[in-house]
Amino acid sequence: MQEELKNIENCAIEDIKGARTSEGIDKVRVKYLGKKGELTKVLRGMGKLSAEQRPVIGKIANTVRENIEGSIASMINSIKQEELDDRLKQEVIDVTMPGKKITLGKKHPITQVMDDLISIFTKMGFKVAEGPEVESVYYNFDALNAAKNHPSRDMSDTFYISDDTILRTQTSPVQIRTMEKTKPPIRIISPGRCFRNDTPDATHTPMFHQLEGLVVDEGITLGDLKGTLEMFAKHFFGEHTKIKFRPHYFPFTEPSAEVDATCFKCSGKGCSLCKGSGWIELLGAGMVHPNVLKNCNIDPEVYSGFAFGMGIDRLAMMKYGIDDIRLFFENDMRFLNQF
Ligand code: DAH
Repeated sequence: MQEELKNIENCAIEDIKGARTSEGIDKVRVKYLGKKGELTKVLRGMGKLSAEQRPVIGKIANTVRENIEGSIASMINSIKQEELDDRLKQEVIDVTMPGKKITLGKKHPITQVMDDLISIFTKMGFKVAEGPEVESVYYNFDALNAAKNHPSRDMSDTFYISDDTILRTQTSPVQIRTMEKTKPPIRIISPGRCFRNDTPDATHTPMFHQLEGLVVDEGITLGDLKGTLEMFAKHFFGEHTKIKFRPHYFPFTEPSAEVDATCFKCSGKGCSLCKGSGWIELLGAGMVHPNVLKNCNIDPEVYSGFAFGMGIDRLAMMKYGIDDIRLFFENDMRFLNQF
């Protein structure tokens, strides 16, 4: 029996040496030390031994078990170490490799100017209103008092989706939408995209941006309009900017004006930007036409208002000295990264 035990130990040690993986070692453990394992089988036969032999063989059996367990444990350690070494080799990270550059985006120059405008007007108490880009003929023309034969209604100027649905040609329909759902006092601006059937050139693109303004309350005068626009021009172009009104015609305002500001580049002396005049055209404006107020169920005998509309792209071109509007919409990063 003693020999049998020694033999088991030797075989087990051999098997352990041959097992190269954790699973292999587990099989060896079951084979020798498991419930039906070789060593257990031998120990079951100990009942047949004499009383003197039993402790001697028992002691040897214990030593054999301890030896097998010990070499299993040390084999497991070295297998784990090998497996770890393998993984470290496979998953090696070269910390000296240059990292991937993450480029941060930035705001489009038109968005930057739009944000500037919103900031100036919201500080004066204006709220930002929005309207749809796909608009009805009623909101874009009829309710704004545009004559039935107004040339801007023509298919050659306006993108028609159906007889009564178009892409808005101006942000002015937001005036109507706002007055329909809000009672005065009203003080809103509305920046957004507009569309006209224009062939692209240095100063025209079929999609462009406007910012609309509308104030309606009791006792609003042309003086309020002038003061508001003067304040805006000084904030946008600089403290010394002056503005002047030139009479003009818009269907939705009466009286109407085009408003110029002293050239911010030459302070009014005359330069290439203002083509020597000292003035640059800023926007269209006027007092809201009584018909427009009536179309929105606002009594023109009680309320009056002013409105203005400016081209955001034009302002951005002036601010950044850009001579071709198409550059804004080509999405060339070499151009956009400069702002
Ligand atoms: N909607 C006009 C245009 O596209 C601009 C404009 C002029 C807006 C006068 C106004 C205004 O609100 O009062 O040419």
